[in-house]
Amino acid sequence: MSGSAMRFTLLTLFPEPIESYFASSIMARAVEKGLVEYRCVNIRDFALDTHRTCDDAPYGGGAGMVLKAEPLAAALDSVGAGEIHTVYPTPAGRPLTTEVIDRFCAQQELVLICGRYEGIDQRIIDLYVDDEVSIGDYVLSSGELAGLVIVDAVYRHLDGVIASESLEEESFQDGLLEYPHYTRPEVFRSRTVPEVLLSGHHERIRNWRMQQRIEKTRRMRPDLYEAWLKRTEGKDKE
Ligand code: ADE
Repeated sequence: MSGSAMRFTLLTLFPEPIESYFASSIMARAVEKGLVEYRCVNIRDFALDTHRTCDDAPYGGGAGMVLKAEPLAAALDSVGAGEIHTVYPTPAGRPLTTEVIDRFCAQQELVLICGRYEGIDQRIIDLYVDDEVSIGDYVLSSGELAGLVIVDAVYRHLDGVIASESLEEESFQDGLLEYPHYTRPEVFRSRTVPEVLLSGHHERIRNWRMQQRIEKTRRMRPDLYEAWLKRTEGKDKE
């Protein structure tokens, strides 16, 4: 994506981890350079009662509490979520993949609802949410972490955030995992850097790295390996 900044709006009951993430490292630089804008909205500011209650027991019984619809709807309305692509990170969503991230990268703005407790009232999902996305088959207690995983996976693809060569050679980009990396010293606890990397022979290095990627993918992710194999065999036949 190029042009104006991409904006992330996160709705949360716990703004601290979000504020500190946007103030750190590569993200802080992207914000400073005007490549990324963000808004962090505290859902509790939109609670209706004096106790600023945001959760309640589930209808039908069961464990845990549910994030109430009214404060969340008021917070979403305050940021204009109706007109913006709105994402709810939840273990009950579709898996976050490179394709989903590419789709999010094409948006000018994303709203992310960072839930807590057992979940949010289903009517919020029905009325506001465009995508329910899971970051993996496990349950986190903090929707903020899942929301920030999505932000991180998206913003690093924006023009000017990370060198494009780094993005080209990393895992998943062409369906294979990344090759191993080494830096100085040449010998560490009797383990040496593979000779080919010291050879200065670019083509040999390229071939070695490709072999490493294929072998690592076969060992770690047989599912990705099989898919890659099918694609390359298909290409060979063309
Ligand atoms: N919230 C809690 N667990 C999650 C997960 N696995 N993916 C996305 N959001 C979550």
